[in-house]
Amino acid sequence: MKKFKLPIIPFIVFVVIAQTAASGAVETERLGEIVGACGECHGDNGISKGLVIPNLAGQDRTYLENQIEEFRHKPRKELEQFQLKIRDSHTMDNQSTRFDADELAAITGYFSDLRCPEEDRAPVQTTSIRCGECHGNDGISRKPGVPNLAGQKEAYLLAQLKMFKATILERNKVRPSPSDSPERSPARRYHRTMGQWAARLSEQEMIIAAKYYSSLPGIWVCK
Ligand code: HEC
Ligand code: HEC
Repeated sequence: MKKFKLPIIPFIVFVVIAQTAASGAVETERLGEIVGACGECHGDNGISKGLVIPNLAGQDRTYLENQIEEFRHKPRKELEQFQLKIRDSHTMDNQSTRFDADELAAITGYFSDLRCPEEDRAPVQTTSIRCGECHGNDGISRKPGVPNLAGQKEAYLLAQLKMFKATILERNKVRPSPSDSPERSPARRYHRTMGQWAARLSEQEMIIAAKYYSSLPGIWVCK
């Protein structure tokens, strides 16, 4: 099994740049600058440098776009309806408001393209853990908008599960209203479906799930 390391990146950069250059959307140098800045935390190759900072390499593109939208906008009006997901992160809120739509499309395309072709991916032994319906039995999502979990940082996964659970429990207690500001709550991530799933897990089960998914080869790991 070999991991994607830096030598593959220039090729991918070239492909992404060739695509964006063709559409004229974002200049090569600008894209390089931006992903370089993201790389300070998420790693130049999309594999993060911190325990609670997620890998972005090979992540589902729609999912990445959704997350950045959420960090950017914090949709207050939609909060009122209590239907839509919201996500707050002090660091990422600042990071994601600095770019225009073309730049964001280029950034999410860049990171999600850092993946091993399906035929070269390492095989995975799956367990009966019941999250595969959405996240794939091998931890690799088959649905747009659902993240890959395989190979993601263990501490990050655990922190997100706790956050989903805490947020949904808190919001179920108090009916949301326009004055229900996310800043008032220590919990910072709301997603109706995922929250309900997380709410069913005990802390011990969360630990097991995080350990299991982080141990699977990620989408960037080839045979
Ligand atoms: C100073 C460190 C830092 C920098 C720089 C940074 N991020 Fe992040 N990013 C984080 C942290 C921490 C999180 C996890 C937030 C949380 O716990 O909810 C995160 C989360 C994300 C997520 C959500 C991923 C997931 O799996 O849910 C995306 C997408 C993302 N960052 C994209 C970017 C992009 C694109 C850039 C560059 C423009 C960037 N980040 C720059 C620290 C950083
Ligand atoms: C019905 C579909 C569905 C099921 C079943 C499901 N999830 Fe999710 N999960 C999602 C979606 C959709 C998201 C993205 C939420 C968002 O956009 O904020 C998500 C996000 C996550 C995240 C955050 C990942 C990241 O990169 O930030 C974790 C961790 C997670 N799920 C773990 C689990 C575990 C563990 C289970 C089983 C106990 C599970 N999920 C079951 C749909 C599902």
